[in-house]
Amino acid sequence: LKEKGLENISKADNLDTINQIRVSLLGKKGPITEVLRGMKDLEPQERPKVGQFANEIRDELTKVLAEKKEEIELIKMAKKLEKETIDVTLPGKKVQQGQSHIITQVIDEIEKLFIGMGYQVVDGPEVEEDHYNFEMLNLPKDHPARDMQDTFYITDNLLMRTQTSPVQARTMEIHDFTQGPLKMISPGKVYRRDTDDATHSHQFHQIEGLVIDKNITMADLKGTLQLIAQTIFGEDREIRMRPSYFPFTEPSAEIDVSCFKCNGQGCSVCKNTGWIEVLGAGMVHPNVLKMAGVDTEVYGGFAFGLGPDRFAMLKYGVDDIRQFYLNDVRFLNQFSVKG
Ligand code: PHE
Repeated sequence: LKEKGLENISKADNLDTINQIRVSLLGKKGPITEVLRGMKDLEPQERPKVGQFANEIRDELTKVLAEKKEEIELIKMAKKLEKETIDVTLPGKKVQQGQSHIITQVIDEIEKLFIGMGYQVVDGPEVEEDHYNFEMLNLPKDHPARDMQDTFYITDNLLMRTQTSPVQARTMEIHDFTQGPLKMISPGKVYRRDTDDATHSHQFHQIEGLVIDKNITMADLKGTLQLIAQTIFGEDREIRMRPSYFPFTEPSAEIDVSCFKCNGQGCSVCKNTGWIEVLGAGMVHPNVLKMAGVDTEVYGGFAFGLGPDRFAMLKYGVDDIRQFYLNDVRFLNQFSVKG
């Protein structure tokens, strides 16, 4: 029994087997327990001998089992350590780092410029009421100019905003002029029912600007727009203002920036004219001021709406607006964050 037991133990190579052997040899139903249990039937003088012998075998087997168990555990641990070895001298894996989208970068740059001039940055809803997107901007229902800004309607009175101008109306309405002039910009997404092509997208960006104070003139507007163009594109850029029409400004202008990269001869971004339109602007229409509860005897101001997508196209020579929305990192990674 002992020999067989020792042989089995030495062959065992895992903890389960060891356990099985222990139960079968030393367990309650094992042979040794049985011998010890049968002692009562032996002659009294035989008992110590048999008992001692059985105990010896039991102790030895117990000892060998424990030793074997320890050995197996050590091997197991060694294997585990080997598998989990870490070579701390290996060079690390390079983590791919993300960056702001190019449009976000342009918006950030313009925000920084205006925050520096004391403007506040205001957010507005993308799902907008007809009331703010059109009516408060002097575009009553059935106004023909609504045609230029067809959009996606949620209900009769709720739509995806076509411009950031509703944020003007919302801000004017709540501004307390006794606390000082209103100077704000509002960047965000806008929507139009346009067919996507190289220069049109059904969703794009605008940054609205609005200043309401005493004695604001068109010269203030022009100076501000010039500053934007030069900050974003460089000192040598020119702007030109063309008379235009917006229902919420009077007079109104469209503003082009010179296409410097094209050497004045034009390129596809500038449709070969040497200029690209990047802004709509004008002096805020008295109707708009009145509707927002502003005293037109005292206050007036200018407003502008610029397109960061156009800005980015012109600045980086991107000739298709759709590139910005394809989320192709090979394209996006070309524009690294500055500062
Ligand atoms: N909201 C106008 C547009 O989307 C742009 C604009 C803004 C024009 C502010 C004048 C003043 O076309």
